Parts: sequence; C-alpha cells; structure tokens
Amino acid sequence: MIPLHLVVLAAGKGTRMKSSLPKVLHPAAGLPLIEHVLRTAEHVTPASVVIVVGHQAETLRAALQSRPDLQFALQEPQLGTGHALLQTESALAGVSGTVVLLSGDVPLLTAATLRRLVDHHAASGAAATVLTAVVDDPAGYGRIERADGRIAAIVEHKDASPGQRAIREINSGIYAFDLAPLFGALRQIGSANAQGEYYLPDLVRIYRDRGLPVETVTLDNPGEILGVNSRKELAQVAQALRAARNDELMASGVTLIDPATAYIGPDVSIGQDTVIHPNVYLEGRTTIGARCEIQCGARLVNSTLADDVFVNSYCVITDSQVERGADVGPFAHLRPQSQIGEDAHVGAFVELKKTRLGRGSKAGHLAYLGDAIIGEKVNVGAGVITVNYDGKTKHQTTIGDDAFIGSDAQLIAPVTIGKGGYVAAGSSITEDVPPGALAIGRGRQANKPGWVEKNKK
Ligand code: UD1
Ligand code: CA
Repeated sequence: MIPLHLVVLAAGKGTRMKSSLPKVLHPAAGLPLIEHVLRTAEHVTPASVVIVVGHQAETLRAALQSRPDLQFALQEPQLGTGHALLQTESALAGVSGTVVLLSGDVPLLTAATLRRLVDHHAASGAAATVLTAVVDDPAGYGRIERADGRIAAIVEHKDASPGQRAIREINSGIYAFDLAPLFGALRQIGSANAQGEYYLPDLVRIYRDRGLPVETVTLDNPGEILGVNSRKELAQVAQALRAARNDELMASGVTLIDPATAYIGPDVSIGQDTVIHPNVYLEGRTTIGARCEIQCGARLVNSTLADDVFVNSYCVITDSQVERGADVGPFAHLRPQSQIGEDAHVGAFVELKKTRLGRGSKAGHLAYLGDAIIGEKVNVGAGVITVNYDGKTKHQTTIGDDAFIGSDAQLIAPVTIGKGGYVAAGSSITEDVPPGALAIGRGRQANKPGWVEKNKK
C-alpha cells in the first residue's frame, strides 16, 4: 500500500461570502464545510492531513482544535494555489507516497469519487492525476487542453483564448500527486499570467515537458465539485448535503413526509418506522428510536428519544432524554438535563430544566419544573411552578410517587412532597409535605353576602 497524505487548501479569503467567519467554517447541513471534506477524506484513511491556512489562520486552527491529527501549514501571503501547496513541504518532509489535494470549500465530493481518483492514480503510476468534469457552463474554471486524447495543459479562464474557452472539460481543483517530483516541480511554477499568481495547474505542463505521465479521472456527476464562493452556493451545497443524508435515512426505513424540509444533521440516528413531519430540525448527536413520530416544527438538539415516543408540534428539546412511549408537546420546552420517563406525558407550554419526570407521570399544561425529581404516576396540575431560584442559588424540589399537585400550586424549593402527598390547588408550599398528607397553603375564602348590592351608588 502506497501511503496517502491529504492536503486541504483553506488559505483563501472568501471575499464573496462577505463574512467575518472564514469561509470553510460556514456550516452547511450541520457541519462546517471543511468538516465535510475531512470526513469524506477519512474513507481513504490518509496517513497525515495538512491544512493550508492563511487568511484568519488562528480562527481556523482554533475551530479545528478538537482534531489533534491535523497539521497546519501557514501560507502568508496567499500567492496562488501552487504557492499554497508548496507551503506543505516541511510538514511532508521525509515522507513518500501520494498527496491528495482537496479544497476546504468543495464539500460535495463523494468518498466513491475520491476512491476512484486514488485507485486510478496508483494503478496508472502517474506523477499527477487530475479530477476533471465536463460541464455545460465552464466559465471561471480552468480548461483541460488535450493532445492526442491525453491531458497537455490546464488553462485558467482568465488566461484562455476564445478557442480554449469553448472547451467544456474543466479542472475540479482536486488532484493526486506522486510526492517524489512534486516540490521540485512546484518551485518551477511562475506567476507570469493574468492573475499574477502561482497556478498549481501549471504543474501539468511542467510534467508533460519533462515526460512525466499525467492522468485524468472524469467525474460522472459534475455537481460533486461545486465549490462555495457565495452565500447562494452555500445554500445550494447545504441542500444537496441534506438531500443525500435524507435519502440514506429513507432507504433505512424512516419516513420523511417532506424531505425538502427535514433538517437532519449528519450525526443523528433514527430507527425504523419513525415518521418525521415537515420543518423538523434534528441536530448534533441526537438519537431517535423506532416508531417515533415527530410532528412539524420540532427542534431536537443532542437529545435521545427511545422507541415509540411522540413529539407534538413546535417542541424544543435540548440535551435531554425521553423514554419509551412518552409524549411531549405541542409547544413544550425540554431544557438541558431533562428526563421524561416511560409513558409519561408533557403537554402544552410546559418547561422542564434539570428535571426528571418519572414513569407514567403527567404535566399536562402550563407548568415550570426546574431542578426537580418527580416520581412515578405523579399528577402535576395546570400552572404548577417549582420556585427553584431565590435570586442567588437554585434549590431542589422532590416529589414522591403517586403525589397529586393541584393546579396553580407553587412549590417553594427546597421542598419535598412525600409519596402520595396531595397539594391543594392554589397553594404556596413552603414546608415539606409528609407522605399521604393533604397540604393547603392559601388564604381562606370569605364570602360577603349582598356586598355588591350594598356598594352600588
Ligand atoms: C482553481 C483552479 C482552477 C479550477 C478551480 C476549480 C487554480 C489556479 N485554478 O481556480 O483550474 O477549475 O479551482 O474550483 O488553481 N487557495 C489558497 N491559497 C491561495 C489561493 C487559493 O489556499 O493562495 C485556496 C482557496 O482557499 C480555495 C482553493 O485554493 O480553497 C482554490 O482557490 P480559488 O482561488 O478558489 O481558485 P479558482 O479560481 O476557483
Ligand atoms: Ca474556487
């Protein structure tokens, strides 16, 4: 096996994005652009990965910090793609094999295409292999010039004659190179061209002059090399990435009522026969079991649903868990560290935070339950509030199994309602309620007969 080294170009300015965020860090379908490229590259198991950074180099390094396998090469100033690759010379010193060059802003390239490029390069023994595509509108791209069917040179659009501009085969900007002649040849590239840049594609002409073999692999689907230069292209690639992921999910047995509006991240898993309605967002490391139904407009982030869970419309669920058979919403908010037990019910306008609602318990309407441990088969009435914050610290509420919390009760924490305890509606509970006791904490009602008539003037 020939060792394979990956170089990803990401030094460019990305002017047309009109953004303070580096272009390759713009997210598309749940991941930064460059992360899509790195994940695709993992399929060919590179021995090393070098990212060429320049513009906003520090921001990029910081954003990719969680990947200790990456090396960085600084390109300063940015004098063109040939100059960019030359900056990896010290990072790749002493290694041999193949360099695969990708762009951090070309996220739709498939693992299968990358595999084809690498395999063809290895099998042909070429010094360089260029991934090309035949497109209807080649404007802006480098054109592939052929002589006797073989690639002779790449001519950049700005340098091309009208005749060359008519060529519809273009350079994808993705290549495989044999390392042995690479850096010597890169130093021969000049900058006497329309843009005054060191063009990497000039390597083709240099190799051909030296009699080194250059090969091409032509894409079946030119859409794979769509690069992101503008917000419009960012939206286009995001849509394509989502469509690919949604196709996989549907093939695995998930129903997407409207795949065009199912926003499902790459690290989300979904079990068979789950139904996802329109405009649902499933983000981060979210896991969804089998036979769940997620109604329109719900957003789940880093959350886990067991099997047979029903999430009604417009719920927001973050860093939380919902156990088998439970149902949530509409309009419920599960904030971090909430846990809904088996067959439990959370209804409309109920907010939970750091709260466990036990098996078979119900909080059907308009409640705030924060920092609470709620047992099994508890009934939480409408308008119940755990008063967990005194302005300085958060306090715990504990509710035993089978308790009944009447509507509009305030449980002023820290407080414990014992097993089977019964809190009267409208109570302000400031003291613990013993198991099985009734607690009433409110002013008594006084009726004044005839008061209305007497006070008429
Ligand atoms: C490049 C190719 C062109 C090809 C096209 C495919 C050159 C000269 N031309 O053109 O043949 O058809 O890609 O999309 O290579 N970059 C650096 N440092 C630099 C310049 C660029 O890191 O000094 C990076 C950019 O961030 C980008 C990539 O290289 O990721 C390509 O650069 P770009 O300026 O977009 O090249 P194109 O004009 O698109
Ligand atoms: Ca480009």
